[in-house]
Amino acid sequence: MRNKRLIGVLVTLVALVCGNLIYNAMISQESKTERKIAKVGVLQFVSHPSLDLIYQGIQDGLAEEGYTEDQVKIDFMNSEGDQSKVATMSKQLVANENDLVVGIATPAAQGLASATKDLPVIMAAVTDPIGANLVKDLKKPGGNITGVSDHNPAEQQVELIKTLTPDVKTIGALYSSSEDNSKTQVEEFKEYAEKAGLTVETFAVPSTNEIASTVNVMTSKVDAIWVPIDNTIASAFSTVVSNNQTAKKPIYPSAAAMVEAGGLASVVVDQHDLGVATGKMIAQVLKGEKPADTPVNVFSTGKSVINKKLAKELGIAIPESLLKDVGQVIE
Ligand code: TRP
Repeated sequence: MRNKRLIGVLVTLVALVCGNLIYNAMISQESKTERKIAKVGVLQFVSHPSLDLIYQGIQDGLAEEGYTEDQVKIDFMNSEGDQSKVATMSKQLVANENDLVVGIATPAAQGLASATKDLPVIMAAVTDPIGANLVKDLKKPGGNITGVSDHNPAEQQVELIKTLTPDVKTIGALYSSSEDNSKTQVEEFKEYAEKAGLTVETFAVPSTNEIASTVNVMTSKVDAIWVPIDNTIASAFSTVVSNNQTAKKPIYPSAAAMVEAGGLASVVVDQHDLGVATGKMIAQVLKGEKPADTPVNVFSTGKSVINKKLAKELGIAIPESLLKDVGQVIE
């Protein structure tokens, strides 16, 4: 009788203690997840309006997913186009105990990829993730890297050039020899342009220092200048424009910001949208999704942008067909 009661008391006690332990564990787990502020490291390769817009989009995308400023701490660095800074800043961002790291533009993503094989790396606006050796398969990345890719609508760009400036026969492609993202775009553009009966001459510059002299040479050889989504050229685009001031060849760049800054027209991918999509993917990975199983999100649909003011200056009439479904007009 006494034993039975004792056992009863013991059982109750054990049950109470266990229950309490489990309850406490649950509570602390909950408050941990509630209190834990996500840490995101961001490396932007260089400053130019398009990349700045992508970074803004990333923050907006994160906020849309509930990661407002008090829920996420962003550890932001900008390598200012300097490859040695890319390497040191990548190591720094990995050492800073961020939950994941984000590379804005190809060289930044490549720097982060060589700094870590375990921490998730999210690519923001990487044109050719396979050619840049960042992922093996866009649908199934497999490693610690995934992200958002901006694939230039090259075929539509060629159509636009033909429609807007039918007299153009030879196009000079101006790009940086050190950016993997540009090499692929130049090959693709060349292929479509040649199919359409145009001749493409390539002009690769090693750095921003050679842009002025290269543009001077180009203007005497080609009918128009085409620029891919190249960070080196984008960051010194005013040099391209000023060295073309006398020759006044039409410039077809690949981002809206460059059309606004003196380009004639283009078909482009929306930069802010790219950033928002990247921000949302960052949120998914913060919530536990694995980069290995997260397909790369490829943006390849473009909208046209036309600099009407410049067209007028150059005496180029814009066909109605182009204005009908134009994405953006610069007046
Ligand atoms: N796609 C480029 C890269 O892979 C980065 C980039 C995005 C960019 N938008 C741009 C470069 C606009 C020049 C202009 O590196």
